[in-house]
Amino acid sequence: MEQRVTRARTLKGEITPPGDKSISHRALILNSIARGRAEISNFLPAADCLSTLACLQALGVEIELDRACSERSRRGKVVIHGVGKKGFVGPRDVLDAGNSGTTMRLLAGLLAAQPFVSVITGDASLRTRPMDRVIQPLSLMGADIRGRDNNTRAPLTIRGPALSGVEGGMLHGIRYRLPMASAQVKSSILLAALFATGDTIIEQPAPSRDHTERMLQAMGASIKSEGSTITLSPITDPLAPLTLRIPGDISSAAFWLMAGAIHPDARIRIMGAGTNPTRSGIIEVLQSMGASLKIENERLEGREPVADLLIESSPLEGTNIGGDLIPRVIDEIPTIALAASVASGTTVIRDAGELRVKEVDRISATVRELSKLGADIEELPDGMIIHGVAQLRGGRCHSHGDHRLAMTLGIAGLVAEGETTITDAEVVDISYPAFW
Ligand code: S3P
Repeated sequence: MEQRVTRARTLKGEITPPGDKSISHRALILNSIARGRAEISNFLPAADCLSTLACLQALGVEIELDRACSERSRRGKVVIHGVGKKGFVGPRDVLDAGNSGTTMRLLAGLLAAQPFVSVITGDASLRTRPMDRVIQPLSLMGADIRGRDNNTRAPLTIRGPALSGVEGGMLHGIRYRLPMASAQVKSSILLAALFATGDTIIEQPAPSRDHTERMLQAMGASIKSEGSTITLSPITDPLAPLTLRIPGDISSAAFWLMAGAIHPDARIRIMGAGTNPTRSGIIEVLQSMGASLKIENERLEGREPVADLLIESSPLEGTNIGGDLIPRVIDEIPTIALAASVASGTTVIRDAGELRVKEVDRISATVRELSKLGADIEELPDGMIIHGVAQLRGGRCHSHGDHRLAMTLGIAGLVAEGETTITDAEVVDISYPAFW
């Protein structure tokens, strides 16, 4: 599908972003491991979360998806009948994680501990992404996981410890220092650790999103975070099911935050966006660029902080982004690059090499596509240098099959002169089906 966007004269109104993708995945997975019924409202029925849902159903978990939810563009309700730690059944077919790294990496941790064999694959993009980052720590716990290309890529074949002769038929806890600040790797290890003997201690190089930790705590797991170290001790009691409302996705809200910041006549109120500090680096970035941003009505939903965000047009200045801020804005960097393209001065983004192993190489794809619209942007091995220009011009650009790049280009079209066409625009279905 091609989407055309023309420059908007004005951008005023209120937007409620869809449910958070990371939290929707975790609500499904953790409630499947719990024993009993949990109800999730404001679940994100986008392709990535539906991949997780289908995999869990294939593992024998009964999950009801509200009809309004199954039409992807709506928000809705899911009921999960958790099977408990010992209730999963071996899948009859290959599990399909689609485009979703979160599905594959988190489920690898769960599957590594089960008493059966499973195979998990994904689409062409996911099959190029590094899986050794989960295979290595899970193998240290006693897991038996094989992957393509010398155990680095999916499809993955996972044989449970009871089948591969591990003593006692169970994984064992480890002490592990994460080589990168990845919430997916951290969560994969934590999921395996729930089924292991002994404590698991994870040291993070920098904080990454902590939704798994918050949810596990609320479900009665024995987990504590001290500084950058997380310790999980296995418990014999089952996890308690967790009924919750999923907060709005700050990563989806980010597109409207940027639209409001860079458009000359904008005032957008974003209702109910998650503002968990491990996710909301975008707010700091906008503030450092001089944006007019107000945080209103701060509250807690479940264990997650939520707020309404009011963004208004204002002249933006270039900024420097790097270090520990990167994991807290990692998914927002394409849209930050867009804002930097029309800010005054220079923006430098460093320490973001992880972008090269996202759904696409997001450094090179962002640089390539924003350049087509007249941005002055150059690639660094681990980031970008962007010199602001006065005006972007419409053009024909490509999503590269990446949802976040497609939406960034859509927002660019709202401020660029003339018309912007985005090809393969349907890819927004991965995280924000109602975006267009
Ligand atoms: C996610 C973690 C991040 C993020 C991804 C979702 C998660 O990936 O980019 O969109 O839900 O845990 P990494 O763990 O690879 O940093």
